Amino acid sequence: MIDTHSHLFEDEFKDDLDECIKRCKENNINKIILVGFSEETNEKAFELSQKYDIFYPTAALHPSEARESYLEDFNKLLDFINNHKIYAVGECGLDYHWTKENIEYQHKLFRMQCELAIKMNLPVIVHSRDADQDTFDIIKSYKGKLKGVMHCYSGSYELAKEYIKLGFYISLGGPVTFKNAKEPKRIAENIDLSRLLIETDCPYLAPTPFRGQRNESSYVKYVCDMIASIRGVEPSYIEKITEENAIKLFNI
Ligand code: NI
Repeated sequence: MIDTHSHLFEDEFKDDLDECIKRCKENNINKIILVGFSEETNEKAFELSQKYDIFYPTAALHPSEARESYLEDFNKLLDFINNHKIYAVGECGLDYHWTKENIEYQHKLFRMQCELAIKMNLPVIVHSRDADQDTFDIIKSYKGKLKGVMHCYSGSYELAKEYIKLGFYISLGGPVTFKNAKEPKRIAENIDLSRLLIETDCPYLAPTPFRGQRNESSYVKYVCDMIASIRGVEPSYIEKITEENAIKLFNI
């Protein structure tokens, strides 16, 4: 199994990272995409990947990092990516949940990162919160050139199908295990499995039965098990297919 979206470099894991990784291996999770989102975390992700084989690092600037100095910030990111082996540009995107004040910079930064991903032939890991239409419009404008994944996808099944038409993958995380999560369950039931990825987004969004607690990469198995039970198939089947999808998208 592959956790395609993890932030195991966060302080929440500073006391027991080795045990977290051990629990991954015990549960047959052998690859983890370690996702940076700021100058500091891009470096942390890369450093940890030098220490542990299990990690594949990415780098990007999250929409919450979008500010007036976005050009300068982007140039620093560019310099980092040119000097460090990474597996995706992400996570980047649009987030209107906390603020729309920096919307102009969010759009510019997201577009620049999409164009960078195209230029480097890397997938993009997209974060979209309360910004469904604008995120879709930007991605659609790169149709046929940009590849990537909608991380911890929270939109409708109909929109998911539109992303798949653009060649994107849909990644489901902890919310698919929540009792009230109708739409993620509908997506799990109906999505074209060749376009599905699984993730934790740890330390956030822990799946049931750990909801509200610290999440960790080994919990991706609960996401896998839930999708398997919704579709009435063996977990090993979902495990195999999502693993193949991740290997293909991230070239790992
Ligand atoms: Ni994340």
